[in-house]
Amino acid sequence: MHIGGRLRWSSEETRVRPCGLSSDPNTTINTATSNGVLLPGHPSRPKFGLHASPEMTTSSTTRLPEEFLAHVRALESQYLASDDPLLQSGFDGGTTRWKEERGPIVEAVDRDGTFMDVGCANGYLLESVCAWATLEKRWHLVPYGVDMNAGLVTEAMKRWPGVADHFWVANAWEFTPPVKFDFVYSLADCVPESFLAPYVARLLDRCVKPGGRLIVGHYGSKLKGVDPLDIGEVLDDFGFPVAGTMQGGRMRDHDGPVTRFAWLAN
Ligand SMILES: C[S@@+](CC[C@H](N)C(=O)[O-])C[C@H]1O[C@@H](n2cnc3c(N)ncnc32)[C@H](O)[C@@H]1O
Repeated sequence: MHIGGRLRWSSEETRVRPCGLSSDPNTTINTATSNGVLLPGHPSRPKFGLHASPEMTTSSTTRLPEEFLAHVRALESQYLASDDPLLQSGFDGGTTRWKEERGPIVEAVDRDGTFMDVGCANGYLLESVCAWATLEKRWHLVPYGVDMNAGLVTEAMKRWPGVADHFWVANAWEFTPPVKFDFVYSLADCVPESFLAPYVARLLDRCVKPGGRLIVGHYGSKLKGVDPLDIGEVLDDFGFPVAGTMQGGRMRDHDGPVTRFAWLAN
């Protein structure tokens, strides 16, 4: 349904139109291993919206493409090859860059509350976000996480033994948690690009409390010189009302950021 020239997304059946996405669900999946980012994504394309894709429908029964899921599953052994908490989160850029490139997430936190990291890996981002929120803003966050990879969730539960029941093994696309959260963070890369709009709608519907905030991130590649998606613009193009944007880090060859974030109010 078009509202004011924009698309609106319903939770159960979502019609995905050529609203800026350039690929189909079977689109090529890359595994970026440079710049500290080890995740399925599309590092060679900086921005959505360059090509129209055929209209497609994703309903509650549409599954993520098996090729995509296989690449996400493959991350587990890559991440767990090291004991380093950053590498186990898919980041090999060191602690200074971790703070520079992930720290802006906390700018979207405006109160005490529950914080869910969708695609939480070993739970280290949660540890960092909770610590930064307390140190910088005096907000107390209660961590929750979900990840498709059981071995990573096991690491997250070890990291958070007091709240191990706050972690789930599930595919984010299909996940409906038993409770909703004040703050939900997800990388856009948790689904193929052509699923992103309905994915965002699902997260808002299934995971974010009324009055809560959904933060969506995208990471570029400093080493490869690949800019992050302008995720605020992407969500705006989809018709979601972007309430704020943040960015982190700095590319080597220009002043642009390495990471970008946008948040929506539910
Ligand atoms: C780069 S890590 C992100 C870690 C942390 N959230 C951060 O932003 O630094 C990506 C994680 O998302 C998980 N992931 C990707 N797609 C997913 C999906 N559809 N459902 C659940 N987990 C997913 C992967 O298993 C991996 O652990």
